[in-house]
Amino acid sequence: MNDRALAEDLKYKAAFEELDESSNKACYMKPFEIKTDIQMRLEELLREIGLAGKARVVDLCGGSGHVAYHLQKEWKDICIDNIDLNKSALDACRQMNGVRVKCYERSCYDSGLQGGEYDMAICWLSFFHLSSPQGLINEMHRLLKPGGLGIISTYLNMDHDIDIRASLIEAAREGDKREYKRNIYSRLTFERFTQDKSGVPRFDIVMHKIKLSSRLNKTRGIGTYNRDAEGREIEPRSGGLLVPMYLIELRKI
Ligand SMILES: C[S@@+](CC[C@H](N)C(=O)[O-])C[C@H]1O[C@@H](n2cnc3c(N)ncnc32)[C@H](O)[C@@H]1O
Repeated sequence: MNDRALAEDLKYKAAFEELDESSNKACYMKPFEIKTDIQMRLEELLREIGLAGKARVVDLCGGSGHVAYHLQKEWKDICIDNIDLNKSALDACRQMNGVRVKCYERSCYDSGLQGGEYDMAICWLSFFHLSSPQGLINEMHRLLKPGGLGIISTYLNMDHDIDIRASLIEAAREGDKREYKRNIYSRLTFERFTQDKSGVPRFDIVMHKIKLSSRLNKTRGIGTYNRDAEGREIEPRSGGLLVPMYLIELRKI
């Protein structure tokens, strides 16, 4: 099951790697100093929770280490492991974060890291790309200590019990006309991913809907948004769907 999902994800990774190195770098490096609204909300949440100084954090699909970059500025003693399939992204991560973030070119379904060791596991703006969301949540559960915190930022369809599979042209890369898939799950489907095979919850879940404020904050990682007549956010490239972004806290039971 995970092998098939990984093969699908590798196709997506291959599409990214076909891009020339400078385009790849420009995409990964350019927005580093920009803190998105959702990043700010994450930091606010971690301040409320009181993330321990020496917390061990794993960033599943951490890419170029954007989240790590900002977290380390405030939480100077945390240790972050970054798991991603994309070598260029991991190179960018090393360049921006130095040795403070350990990078592993591995699958998020099978990170090979020691289980039960992590205080926090993040999956940032990647969940909607994954062929096996279940595989990701299983790996998060395995890696976290009891009581540990999983953080997923993703689109959710909270209005209806319908899962949406959208295909859109990535706006982030100039001239790139490839289509990327996005899976937007309903609340019920998302909750099922977090349960065990008998339907028993494995996490306590809190969902935070993210309000997007400035135009600048809307252009990184979460697509390019427009507003409809009532001022609601719309992503035109996904066919005008309303796909609000959520920050989801998963506390391992
Ligand atoms: C949209 S990027 C987000 C990167 C990063 N979290 C950020 O916010 O900048 C999605 C990342 O997921 C990675 N990815 C996709 N499928 C994966 C898998 N099965 N295992 C590990 N990484 C994967 C891609 O290589 C890519 O770097």
